[in-house]
Amino acid sequence: MKALVLTGIKQFEIMNRDTPFIGENEVLVNTAYAGVCGTDHDLYAGRPGSAPAVPPIVLGHENSGVVAAVGSQVTNVKPGDRVAVDPNIYCGQCEFCLTSRPELCDHLSAVGVTRDGGLAEQFVAPASVLYALPDNVPLKDAATIEPISCAVHGVDLLELHPYQKALVIGDGFMGQLFAQTLQAYGVHRVDLAGIFDDKLERNKALFGVAGTYNTRRERIPEESYDVVIEAVGLPKTQSDAVKATKKGAQVLMFGVGPQEAHFEMNTYDIYKKQLAIKGSFINPHTFRDAISLLASGKINVAPLISHEFELDQVQDFLDGKVEGVSKAVVKVAA
Ligand SMILES: NC(=O)c1ccc[n+]([C@@H]2O[C@H](COP(=O)([O-])OP(=O)(O)OC[C@H]3O[C@@H](n4cnc5c(N)ncnc54)[C@H](O)[C@@H]3O)[C@@H](O)[C@H]2O)c1
Ligand SMILES: [Zn+2]
Ligand SMILES: [Zn+2]
Repeated sequence: MKALVLTGIKQFEIMNRDTPFIGENEVLVNTAYAGVCGTDHDLYAGRPGSAPAVPPIVLGHENSGVVAAVGSQVTNVKPGDRVAVDPNIYCGQCEFCLTSRPELCDHLSAVGVTRDGGLAEQFVAPASVLYALPDNVPLKDAATIEPISCAVHGVDLLELHPYQKALVIGDGFMGQLFAQTLQAYGVHRVDLAGIFDDKLERNKALFGVAGTYNTRRERIPEESYDVVIEAVGLPKTQSDAVKATKKGAQVLMFGVGPQEAHFEMNTYDIYKKQLAIKGSFINPHTFRDAISLLASGKINVAPLISHEFELDQVQDFLDGKVEGVSKAVVKVAA
């Protein structure tokens, strides 16, 4: 089978590999689509994602496909099933796994990060991370279930009510997913701040966003929102997120900055406004919700998937040679 193997920092090789062996609790998947995101940019450049990736390794952690074979103890899927694969595998033994916070697992492993992933015609995953897809979810859209599940985890960490007015800062793929997810969870008004007029307009026209700010020329108002989601990861937008809060507000710091970055905020605000400022890491137990949001049409990703690449185009994309990408998926097999 054909595999795109990361062999070193910013080095890919297309290789022909043997079909991987499956253990009794594992599943062999024929990859259909693999989404590519900022984490892949980091791993390609030698920076860690949710965990470090050690070459030689096959990336691809946002995968959909069709089950090719199952181990003798597998009960949840069978050959021929269309599936989405949660990349994150928890040890089940550490203090965080044993206290219902598996995303903080001390021994996190992940398909497409610490073990071979979906940028290959086939890959192996434990049965516990496979989810059969409803018939009406196309395999292409299903490659975005992992990022949707990260947005679902983010909103799970908040206390949401219909009366709230929410602002999402960041018009990348994740920010646009949050704009839809917050509405699906009942928030009555969602505004979006970004840097691309066409994306901001599309979110008003298609996705129910009420108001927008282009931060290249407009200021985000202060003291205005009950919920603010930061989905950029820059100190400036992180500061703006805190400034945009009303009394009693919640801020979700979803964007990922460089490891050494800091942002400025008025610490008195935390006390006076009784702010809750939370981080959000990956996607524990949110795949079922993400699949339901997609299957019900409450989240619509098709207009957001701007590019479909072949395996041999991934390196050019990660080298920044393709412009105007909103969300890219790699079509690995039909
Ligand atoms: N916490 C998690 O589990 C998790 C999961 C996935 C992604 N992330 C992080 O979420 C962030 C967003 O992810 P993404 O896939 O959308 O990446 P992305 O790079 O597309 O998102 C950033 C987007 O923010 C917009 N932006 C840039 N500067 C801005 C500004 N000054 N004001 C408003 N918008 C601005 C741009 O449209 C840019 O595309 C990234 O930092 C990513 O690492 C976190
Ligand atoms: Zn990703
Ligand atoms: Zn653990």
